[in-house]
Amino acid sequence: MLSGKTILLIIGGGIAAYKSLELIRRLKERGAAVVPVMTGAAGEFVTPLSVSALAGGKVYTDLFDLTDEAEMGHIQLSRAADLIVVAPATADLIGKVANGLAGDLASTLLMATDTEVLMAPAMNVRMWEHYAVQRNLAWLRDNGVRFVGPNEGDMACGEYGPGRMAEPMEIVAAVEARLARGVLSGKRAIVTSGPTHEPIDPVRYIANRSSGAQGTAIARALAARGAEVVFVTGPADVAPPEGVEVVKVQSARQMLAAVEAALPADVAVMAAAVADWRVKSESGSKIKKVKGALPVLEFEENPDILAQVSQMTEGRPGLVVGFAAETDDVVAHATAKRARKGCDWIVANDVSPETGIMGGTENAVVLISDAGAEDWPRMGKQDVAERLADRIAAAVS
Ligand code: C5P
Repeated sequence: MLSGKTILLIIGGGIAAYKSLELIRRLKERGAAVVPVMTGAAGEFVTPLSVSALAGGKVYTDLFDLTDEAEMGHIQLSRAADLIVVAPATADLIGKVANGLAGDLASTLLMATDTEVLMAPAMNVRMWEHYAVQRNLAWLRDNGVRFVGPNEGDMACGEYGPGRMAEPMEIVAAVEARLARGVLSGKRAIVTSGPTHEPIDPVRYIANRSSGAQGTAIARALAARGAEVVFVTGPADVAPPEGVEVVKVQSARQMLAAVEAALPADVAVMAAAVADWRVKSESGSKIKKVKGALPVLEFEENPDILAQVSQMTEGRPGLVVGFAAETDDVVAHATAKRARKGCDWIVANDVSPETGIMGGTENAVVLISDAGAEDWPRMGKQDVAERLADRIAAAVS
C-alpha cells in the first residue's frame, strides 16, 4: 500500500506515455497521491486533461508559470514528494539529467530535487543501445538514480528489442519496493539465477535443467524486504520477479561480466546453475552434419563466478551465499565446496532425479555456515526464499 505517499510523476514525450495514464490509476488505487508533471512533448501523446482527470489534481507543465510559483514553487514541488517517477524516461530526459541541463520544468525539477528518482526508460531499441544513452544511464545509476525496465519486445516503431517501457504494475512494484521501509531497505543485493547456455555454433548450445525458480523466488523475497536487487538471469523458464533490475545473459562469461558490473553490493546470492565448461572453439557457422564423421567438441573451463566474488580482496559483498546441487553426500560435499570457494553460506540441496527438486516447485535444503549444517524441512521454493531472505536480513542489517 502507498497511502500517505506522494509520487511526483514526470511524463516524458514518448508513445509509452499512454501507459502512464494506467500507472496513475494503479498508484492512486494503492492510496498514493500523484502530482503529475508533463514535458512539452508528452502533451503530443496524452492530453493534460486526461492526466489531470486521472490524477485528480493540477498538471504542471510550465517552468515559467507565475501561478505555480505563487502556489508552491518548483523546487518545493520536487521536494515535497516521497519519490519522483519518470515514466516514460525518454533518451532526451535521461540525457538532460545526466548532463545537467535544466531548460524545462521536468529537467529543472529533476535537478533541483533531493528526493529519490525512479526512471522507467522507453525508447527505440537502437537509441537504447546507443553509446551516449548507455553512458548517461551508467552515470545516473552511479549517482543513485534507480531504474525499472525497459523490457524487451515488439515496439511501437515496428522494431524488436529492449526499449519498451516497463508495464504499469512493474513500475508500481518498483515504487512499492523503493518506498517500503523494509528490513533490507538501503541494502543492495545481486542474485544470479537460471541456467547458462554455452554456444556450440550459432544454433546449438549446451544447457542444463535449471528452471530459475529458486533464484527468482529469492530475488522477489529480497526486494519485498526493501533491498535494491540486481537480478542476473540466464535463459530461465520462469519470468523474472517485479521490482528488481533484470539483467538477461546467456553464457557464464556474460553472467560474470553482469555480476561485476552490478558490484558493489551488500549481499550476493549465486543461485544460477552455471555451466562448468564451455566449448573451446565456438563455430561461427552451423556445423554441418557429415555422414560417418562425428564432430569432436573440446571443452574449457568457465569462470567460477561464486568463487571469484567470494575471493575478492577489495569490495567483496559482506555476505556471499552459494548453492550446491548434489546427488550424494550432500552435506559433506557442500561443506567442502563452501571452504573451496570461500563463500559465507552454502544452501545445499539433493537434486537426485527421484527428489523432483530440479525444475520442481519444492526444495529441501541444508544451510551450511560457520555455525554448521542446518536442515530445513521440505517446503515450497518461495518459502525457502522467504526464510533465506529473513536470515540474510538478520545477518546484514
Ligand atoms: O561448483 P558448483 O557448480 O557445484 O557450485 C555451485 C555454486 O557455485 C552455485 O552457487 C553456483 O551459482 C556457483 N557457480 C558459479 N559459477 C560457476 C559455477 C558455479 O557462480 N562457474
